[in-house]
Amino acid sequence: MKNNSQQPTILPIKKIVQETPAIKTYTFEHKLGAEPGQFVMLWIPRVDQKPISISRQTDSSFDLSVFKVGKATEALFDMKEGDKVGISGPYGRGFNIEPKKNIVLVGGGCGSAPLRMLGEEAEKAGCKVTFITGAQTSKDVLFKDALSDTCITTDDGSAGFKGFTTQKLAEILTENKDTDKVYTCGPEVMMKGVVDVCAKHKISCEISMERYMKCGFGICGQCAVDPLGICICKAGPVFSGEMAAKITEFGQYHRDKAGVKHEL
Ligand SMILES: Cc1cc2nc3c(=O)[nH]c(=O)nc-3n(C[C@H](O)[C@H](O)[C@H](O)COP(=O)(O)OP(=O)(O)OC[C@H]3O[C@@H](n4cnc5c(N)ncnc54)[C@H](O)[C@@H]3O)c2cc1C
Ligand code: FES
Repeated sequence: MKNNSQQPTILPIKKIVQETPAIKTYTFEHKLGAEPGQFVMLWIPRVDQKPISISRQTDSSFDLSVFKVGKATEALFDMKEGDKVGISGPYGRGFNIEPKKNIVLVGGGCGSAPLRMLGEEAEKAGCKVTFITGAQTSKDVLFKDALSDTCITTDDGSAGFKGFTTQKLAEILTENKDTDKVYTCGPEVMMKGVVDVCAKHKISCEISMERYMKCGFGICGQCAVDPLGICICKAGPVFSGEMAAKITEFGQYHRDKAGVKHEL
């Protein structure tokens, strides 16, 4: 059942899988009815609520894959199977899947999370999916075996292609002239690189943008971006490459919870 009211649904954590030293996947038994690229607000009792993308979905369950970065995610990492959290959503606009297309997904670090669900849904829609999942080292790579055609990249060459996901993408687009569309999620500097590679090869793309969020549904204005003033939580988080080009702060800077600008 969809719950995009402010009121969270309280759910026990059904299962926890340690994916990498800093990423865990949490499974919940609940019919969420989300689209790939949408997110939930995850409320950790007595700590905070945070936006998290859906990394996998079945008719009766969904997964969240979380990178330990600060107070809320550290508290989540201390939780055990059976402990309860609050979930509201799904929120936002997700990825657009066109059936039977030849697509490439480019994920950096935990950015591969929403791309896993996208890849699985796109395969069901008859798409040929190539999944590039990149990280700094082999131990940090998320979802090595999740989709049938997966290319791993590592910055240090400890697994797969040695180099950045953008270099692998450029190689694939040069070799496969029949690629229809590229989808990306990960560090913003990487996504900016993906948009540039796609522009060079005249291929359309979609990006999933992150900004500090408080409400998650367009009320507080925390995630508004320059110069358009649109809220990422409601107008996004997924945008076309053309729309990303109109968001002048994309790939340049973001704002913290106090609204102070930080260069990327
Ligand atoms: C739409 C959306 C989907 C997301 N999906 C996932 C996901 O699937 N898995 C996952 O692990 N994380 C995801 N995130 C990021 C996640 O919400 C943050 O990492 C989380 O809020 C960190 O909370 P914390 O209290 O642990 O860390 P904090 O103490 O709040 O932050 C730690 C550091 O990360 C920075 N930071 C926090 N949030 C953001 C942000 N949104 N943009 C830039 N810097 C930030 C802070 O400024 C600080 O430097 C998503 C964010 C958005 C907006
Ligand atoms: S987080 Fe409140 S408007 Fe986007």
